[in-house]
Amino acid sequence: ARIAVLISGTGSNMAALLYASRLSDAPFEIVLVASNDPSAPGLALAAAEGIATFALAHKGLPRAEHEAQMEAAILAADADYIALAGYMRVITAETVSHWSGRMLNIHPSLLPKYTGLDTHARAIAAGDSHGGVSVHLVTEELDAGEVLGQIAVAIQPGDTADTLARRVLFAEHQLYPRVLADYVSRGNNPEHLLARVRELAL
Ligand code: GRF
Repeated sequence: ARIAVLISGTGSNMAALLYASRLSDAPFEIVLVASNDPSAPGLALAAAEGIATFALAHKGLPRAEHEAQMEAAILAADADYIALAGYMRVITAETVSHWSGRMLNIHPSLLPKYTGLDTHARAIAAGDSHGGVSVHLVTEELDAGEVLGQIAVAIQPGDTADTLARRVLFAEHQLYPRVLADYVSRGNNPEHLLARVRELAL
């Protein structure tokens, strides 16, 4: 399966997906790395690894216009799925609807707890025993789609948001490649087929 990965910064999750795609039994390949920030370090990593990249700053563009150009680049790369990986823009319901069942996101909490931002600080403040990471399908509602996989990470005494985030990142890099591989291997599930038919019918 052909994956477009959207990033906004470091791109360590994108890198994890990229290197996992090089395993002999990997059922996916990264065909595009796109960002809303032309200075995102992940773009340079992807380019150095021979992956096509696309960057378009969102500043000064209406949201729908920025998204339309991002989606055009994704379609031009003939991607089957979109993997959001630290992509810090909310995607409009319109664009999400084009990719129903074919857009995934990684979120640094054990959903449905702590949707939105500052997830680690909130888990620590709540006195939770664990933080963690979730990979889920993207729907119109932020961080609310079907959860495809999760890994819990113990919160340790004295943890700050930064120290917890650093451990959760290790879990993220394990989770995303595994969940994506499993998900695209289910390729014939109804959402995919329906989305594909809809797309071909467009
Ligand atoms: C990760 O913590 C991820 O959970 C969140 O943003 C961060 C992205 O990091 N969505 P990277 O750009 O993949 O290194």
